[in-house]
Amino acid sequence: DSRYDLVVVANRLPVDFSVRPGGGVDWQRSPGGLVTALEPVMQAADGAWVGWSGAPDLAAEPFDADGLRLVPVTLSASEIERYYEGFSNDTLWPLYHDVVSTPTYHRQWWDAYRRVNQRFADAAAAQAAEGAVVWVHDYQLQLVPRMLRDQRPDLRIGFFDHIPFPPVELFQQLPWRRQIVEGLLGADLVGFQRGGDASNFVRAVRRLTTHTTRGPIVTVDAERGTLGRHVRAGAFPISIDSTHFDELARSPEVQARAKEIRTELGDPDVVMLGVDRLDYTKGIRHRIKAYGELLDDGRIDAARTTLVQVASPSRENVGAYQELREHVEVLVGRINGEFGELGHSAIHYLHHSYPPEEMAALYLAADVMLVTSLRDGMNLVAKEYIAARSDEQGVLVLSEFTGAADELGAGPLLVNPHDIEGTKDAIVQAARMSEREQRRRMRRLRRKVMSDDVAKWSQGFLGVLQAMPRRHVSVVASSGS
Ligand code: G6P
Repeated sequence: DSRYDLVVVANRLPVDFSVRPGGGVDWQRSPGGLVTALEPVMQAADGAWVGWSGAPDLAAEPFDADGLRLVPVTLSASEIERYYEGFSNDTLWPLYHDVVSTPTYHRQWWDAYRRVNQRFADAAAAQAAEGAVVWVHDYQLQLVPRMLRDQRPDLRIGFFDHIPFPPVELFQQLPWRRQIVEGLLGADLVGFQRGGDASNFVRAVRRLTTHTTRGPIVTVDAERGTLGRHVRAGAFPISIDSTHFDELARSPEVQARAKEIRTELGDPDVVMLGVDRLDYTKGIRHRIKAYGELLDDGRIDAARTTLVQVASPSRENVGAYQELREHVEVLVGRINGEFGELGHSAIHYLHHSYPPEEMAALYLAADVMLVTSLRDGMNLVAKEYIAARSDEQGVLVLSEFTGAADELGAGPLLVNPHDIEGTKDAIVQAARMSEREQRRRMRRLRRKVMSDDVAKWSQGFLGVLQAMPRRHVSVVASSGS
């Protein structure tokens, strides 16, 4: 059997590639947490990765990269528009993030989503060996588990949702809500970032289907007759490669670069940092507004403080992202116009992304890290900041609406980013915190982040998936309540 025992299915492949005129493929690794997370398990098992190339009409045969089998899925320009930009990122993304931006519902987008999910499912079915484990990732591919099971009942199928799963009161806006829930229930194990996401999902199953639920276990009715299957829902909070980040930040080059960054910024007393994809869920405007008001009030000294905001470009063809960019850039311009001086900016706004070495240096250079998402599945930037701070200094200001807040408990200064006054108070508190108090909190945070790393996450998920009983079960009663 030339097929694979572990197949990962994700919207994106972990590499960027181009096809040579002769037909061969040139590729380079693209940065991304999921690759590092899965690499060790993929190397240990005989692993294949099914995903989109990231460009329109780019077709290639499956190829090997760094010992990984990569299986490209081709999308046309119109599918990118309807499946990726449309249904995934203008319907599901805002809906799943508590409608902080208004979702758009289009039937043509849904049709494309179904078609593209089927293509991913077919590709995965073709790669998976008899009885293989297939691990499907994220909101772009929620129909894949059901589509796979229909063709390949022999497979063990896991699904992990990297973003929040909304309360059923919001989820039920979706015209295709039942199909999505049934799609996910094709899996044996459906994983979420937080316990709250898993219980939102189970509530949606109860509200929208006739399947029976008992705690986190859903018993899916068989199509006809009384034999069903168990599906388990559960929380598996994702993490980062903590040791790698810790080591990176300890390297002499990165330490020197961190000092250099502070010098380049004009040696301010306090450096604050925000690092996000330029996305409206991240609360970038709320954060900048709070910071601007503090300068205005004189509660922080404009001449001695700097905010560095890294906002990496994201989903630039989607209207809501274009609007956000306009708003953020106007706001930054206004504050810099008001409080900047020759040779000193109140805010350094950087619309780029940077390699991990530069990120680690920025984390080390920052006295205060601002994570103010309005809603966020986990937020790995918060964990990266912690992993980089082996000096046990620095303060994390963290939105209570992140998965990370559920996990990190009392270490960060928690804020509700909608509460501008409360956020301002937390920023001031962070800027003035004693070294001793910083150390006390950072120690606590590091204990958690250094031990719960991403390898533990993937092994935990796959362990539960592999341990699930395979027998069909008789359905006792249908609750549907
Ligand atoms: C979030 C999603 C991922 C996605 C990433 C980048 O983290 O959970 O599935 O890959 O954002 O977004 P993009 O649309 O560029 O893939």
